Amino acid sequence: MNEYLRTPIRDIIARFPEVGSLLEMHGIGCVPCSLGTCALGDIVDIHGLAPEVELDLMTAIGAVVAPGEAVVLSARPAASSPKKGFSPPMKTLVDEHRLILRVIALVPAITASLDVHLEADRRLVAAIVDFIRNYADRFHHAKEEDLLFSLFDRESDILKVMYEDHANGRARVKATVDALERRDQAGVTENLTGYIGILSQHIRKEDDILYPWMDRKLSTRQVGELFSAFRKLDSEFSEKADRYGAFVRSLEDKYASNDAEVA
Ligand SMILES: [Fe+2]
Ligand SMILES: [Fe+2]
Repeated sequence: MNEYLRTPIRDIIARFPEVGSLLEMHGIGCVPCSLGTCALGDIVDIHGLAPEVELDLMTAIGAVVAPGEAVVLSARPAASSPKKGFSPPMKTLVDEHRLILRVIALVPAITASLDVHLEADRRLVAAIVDFIRNYADRFHHAKEEDLLFSLFDRESDILKVMYEDHANGRARVKATVDALERRDQAGVTENLTGYIGILSQHIRKEDDILYPWMDRKLSTRQVGELFSAFRKLDSEFSEKADRYGAFVRSLEDKYASNDAEVA
């Protein structure tokens, strides 16, 4: 069993597909992960499961990969135990996700009625691209990449997935702009839809897995330094943030259906 704790999850799931289902049942989405190179032992640590849940999961996995062997878990250090709620800087990033998700929620309705041969519709797509590039990417992703992620090992499997998602998102936005210039209706819809697929999954990974794990690892001093660095960026961006907030509200007024959930 110990040998499996150091084995990449991709290899374990390829050999024992049932392990993928067991992880999914515990809210650990390794099956759709694009890399799958994290070791089984690291995955359990990253997700910060309660000790009894961790034992339950590892016993079930052990019964599949090494039947008859006892599962022995080493005690986790106190810093790895689950914490309730986000630290103030992480909460800021989660709040930014909420605004991005409000735009993502409207994209299906926007693309359904889009006509790229109309000047007004082309301006609308350009405004959404501007929001994505300036708010989601230059403001929010820059906080992640330049400040938060730089406190961790950039070569770690979990961060490689996050950088890869950011890069794939940027490629989809560039493809959207290219399609718009060609007046390629299907290309705009396909790439904007691809973008929201990447970003919604990415945000779920950050909110549910990455940020809680980072919060458990950050020292109190690092949390304080991040908070003040974020606050400086927030104050520099505050005018634009107000403008983007108003832009999202105007989109919702036009495209949110009555029963749509608006955060
Ligand atoms: Fe991110
Ligand atoms: Fe994010």
